[in-house]
Amino acid sequence: MGNRRHRGWELRQSAVTPEAVFQNRRALMRNLAAGSILAAASPLWPGLSREAFAADDPSAPLYPFARNPRYKVTRALTSEKDATTYNNFYEFGSHKQISEASQALSVRPWTVVLDGLVEKPIEIGIDDLMKKMPLEERVYRHRCVEAWSMVVPWSGFPMRALVDFAKPKAGAHFVMMETFFDPETAPGQKQFWYPWPYVEALTLEEARNELAFLVTGVYGKPALPQNGAPLRLAVPWKYGFKSIKSIVRFTFAAQRSESFWETIAPKEYGFWANVNPKVPHPRWSQASERVLGTNETVPTLPYNGYEEFVAGLYDGLKGEKLFM
Ligand code: MTE
Repeated sequence: MGNRRHRGWELRQSAVTPEAVFQNRRALMRNLAAGSILAAASPLWPGLSREAFAADDPSAPLYPFARNPRYKVTRALTSEKDATTYNNFYEFGSHKQISEASQALSVRPWTVVLDGLVEKPIEIGIDDLMKKMPLEERVYRHRCVEAWSMVVPWSGFPMRALVDFAKPKAGAHFVMMETFFDPETAPGQKQFWYPWPYVEALTLEEARNELAFLVTGVYGKPALPQNGAPLRLAVPWKYGFKSIKSIVRFTFAAQRSESFWETIAPKEYGFWANVNPKVPHPRWSQASERVLGTNETVPTLPYNGYEEFVAGLYDGLKGEKLFM
């Protein structure tokens, strides 16, 4: 495409710079204040920074959530360090090393709006919302459209519980989701050629599927900004770009509007985006995936290994471009 815009997530592995060591600014400042010269002078281990980060978060005492054993993954967990330092979050840069820059995002107070075709619009703080939701941990595969993958323990609650709480009206068939918009905090949003804010959508049936999960934490602790704190989606049978981060709004609607990547390149990043090893991206194969943190490349599975849970959602939709 002549007018195709460059996307960092399409960088070849060889073009990706070495991972920066993640440093949580708040933890660093706390250590400095405590006079810990050693901690200030040496890179902080992510675990240490995460403890400090959690200290500012009113939901921290709720963690860890009990793991739901129903969702089994045979592969090893990706290390916490890899999952928190190799990220896509275009609001903070079109490359993978956004973990440090994303600490600028303040995740409290954080209000979530539920509106559109609902009985009554709701505006609720994230901590009040968490009190109303059934909290649990799930280990899911996570497959990016760029053909890398991770296995992450997400903490959060089933999206179905949020849909029930919103009380959508009978005419609602889609739920649109929107990321915060604050270009002063997230300089990527000053790049006017992207259609900010980041938006995504699911059918209501997909949102009610047992796998659709809203994430508040990772690795048994509150999520960090780079993973989409304080609320992001995890729909593991779809390519990762569907799993929108740092959500501020859920709008229930009869029709769907275009998502962020669909607006930019509709032939490459469609609405459905279900993982399918037999359907290549227009510019690369989706047959296999690089397992982050290992030297392994493994075959990609239909629906990313979740066929038994979701394939039925798409019966009768044969005319749709379900896989890209
Ligand atoms: N959400 C927002 N708001 N902005 C983004 O750039 N990137 C998407 C998705 N959600 C993105 C986003 C992509 S392409 C992927 S693969 C996943 O987030 C990455 O999630 P991770 O960094 O936690 O692995």
